[in-house]
Amino acid sequence: MTSTQHTRITRAHETDIPSLLSLNNRYSAAGLTLARTPEFAANHLGDYRVLRDASGGILGCVALDEYSPSVAELISLAIEEDAHGLGYGRALIAAAVELARTRGYQELFAVSYSDELFLACGFERAPLATYPEKIARYAKVDRTEIEVGEKHCFARRLA
Ligand SMILES: CC(C)(COP(=O)(O)OP(=O)(O)OC[C@H]1O[C@@H](n2cnc3c(N)ncnc32)[C@H](O)[C@@H]1OP(=O)(O)O)[C@@H](O)C(=O)NCCC(=O)NCCS
Repeated sequence: MTSTQHTRITRAHETDIPSLLSLNNRYSAAGLTLARTPEFAANHLGDYRVLRDASGGILGCVALDEYSPSVAELISLAIEEDAHGLGYGRALIAAAVELARTRGYQELFAVSYSDELFLACGFERAPLATYPEKIARYAKVDRTEIEVGEKHCFARRLA
């Protein structure tokens, strides 16, 4: 568990699923996150990390989505609107990187509009074509994720 003054980053529990979905899906209409279902969250519960306030409420979330034993995508990065700009995004990216390292992935990638944030967190721009699995997986689900021009792919080597 990671702690700052009044917040902590922990694993997610089953009771967190409604809050996780509400937070993630709030940003999906704008194409910032990909909409997730309760089934997805339940099946990937161990892949989430959540940022909690002093009373345990969820201020932010992030998750890993495995593509192969060596590659995972950082997904579902979202922070409550009134808590933006406080460093929580960076903290959750760091937690995702730590989880990815612990699990032995050699590379973590993300598809995002937040160029400065990912560059500040040690990621580098990478061609989306590096990850044909991403294109194949999401082409069937939601093409906005790969069609939006300004969205960029970022990768960080972990090994
Ligand atoms: C993107 C998001 C997670 C960032 O969270 P946050 O807690 O506000 O980010 P931080 O406070 O840790 O910001 C870290 C740095 O990135 C910058 N930054 C944050 N969001 C940014 C954005 N959208 N574009 C450019 N820079 C951004 C900040 O200016 C800050 O820089 P600084 O430390 O040099 O001042 C948050 O704005 C959010 O939930 N957005 C909606 C959902 C979304 O876009 N998710 C990303 C999907 S990959």
